[in-house]
Amino acid sequence: MRQVGRYLPEYHQLKKNRPLLSLFHNEEFIVEATLLAPKLLNVDAAILFSDILIILNTLNIPYNFHEKLGPITTFDPLEKIITTLNPAVFQPQLNAIKELKKQLTIPLIGFAGSPFTIASYLLEKNSSRDLSNTRRFMYSEPEKFDKIINEILEATIFYLENQIYAGVDAIQLFDSSSYVLTEPLFLKYCIEINKKIISRIKKFSIPLLLFVRNSSYNIKSLITTKANCLSLDWHKDLKKIINHFPKNISLQGNMDPMMLFASDIQIKKYLNELLPFIKNHPGYIFNLGHGIHPKTPVDKIKLVIDYVRSRS
Ligand code: CP3
Repeated sequence: MRQVGRYLPEYHQLKKNRPLLSLFHNEEFIVEATLLAPKLLNVDAAILFSDILIILNTLNIPYNFHEKLGPITTFDPLEKIITTLNPAVFQPQLNAIKELKKQLTIPLIGFAGSPFTIASYLLEKNSSRDLSNTRRFMYSEPEKFDKIINEILEATIFYLENQIYAGVDAIQLFDSSSYVLTEPLFLKYCIEINKKIISRIKKFSIPLLLFVRNSSYNIKSLITTKANCLSLDWHKDLKKIINHFPKNISLQGNMDPMMLFASDIQIKKYLNELLPFIKNHPGYIFNLGHGIHPKTPVDKIKLVIDYVRSRS
C-alpha cells in the first residue's frame, strides 16, 4: 500500500524537487520509482508508480498534485464529459510496464481507482472529510452522477485492459472513498460497480485484488464482487475474521500503518499473535491496512518484512 513514496530518502533523491504530475508522465521515472521498493525492501511484488488520477487523461479533465493540498482537479460537473479511449493518453505507463517486465523478477501489479473514488476527486472542490460535495451532487443530480460514474467505469476498464496487454501480472482496484455512502448506495456505487469491472476483467485470468476503505465492516458484500483477493483495512481483528472467510478468496492486510511508529517489541508482539492464525489461509498476503505514512521510519518497514519472512 503506497510502497513507493515520500518515506523513502531514495525517492526524494530521484524526484529532485520536480513537479509530481510531470513524474507520472515520465516513462524513465516510472520505471526507476517502481524498482525502488523491490530493490530496497525485499517485497514479493512491485506496484507500478502511477496514480489513480491518471484515468482523468481519458476524460480530458485537468488535474494537478499540490504539495500541501494533495490532488486538485478542475471540472464542471454540469458539463458533458468528453471521453477519449485512446491508449496514447497513458503511453508512459504502458511503456514503463513493458520495460519493467524485462527487468523485474517478481510480479508487477497494475491498478486503477474505482469509479466512485475517482468521481469524489472530481466533485470535491476542496477536499472534505465527509465528501459532502460529492454526496450533495449525487442526490441533487442523480442522472448526471450516474453518467459520470458510467463514463469513469468504461474508461477504467479500458485503462486496466491496456495495462494487462502491456504485461502486468495482477490488478488492484482502490476504492478509498465509497465508505462515506449509505448502505444502499454503497451496494450501488461500490459493490455493483466494482463487480462490473471485475466481471469484465475476469477473461484475462489474472488475479484481481480489491481494496475498499473500511472494508472490514463490509466483508459479506465485498465477497459478492468475486474479487480473487480482498485487501482489508486495519479496523477489524484478522484473527477473528479468518475462520469465517471463504477459502477460495485470498486475503491481504491488515496491519495499521501507524503501528509502524510503535516499538520493535510491540510490533513483534502483534506479528507473533497474528501470523499463526493466518498461516493456513490459502493465498494470504501480509500487508498494511492502508498506505504508508510519509514520516514512517524505513527501519520499521524492514523490520516487519524480515520478521514476517522469518515466521512464514
Ligand atoms: O502504492 C504505490 O506505491 C503505487 C503508486 C500509487 C500512488 N497513488 C502514488 C502516489 C498508488 C497505488 C496510489 C493510489 C492512490 N492515489 C489512492 C488510492 C489508495 C489510497 O491511498 O486510498 C488515492 C486515493 C490516491 C490519490 C492521491 N495521490 C492522494 C490523496 C495523494 C496525495 C496525498 C499523499 O498521500 O501523498 C496522491 C499523491 C501520490 N500518489 C504520491 C504517490 C507516491 C505522493 C508522492 C509525492 O508527494 O511525492
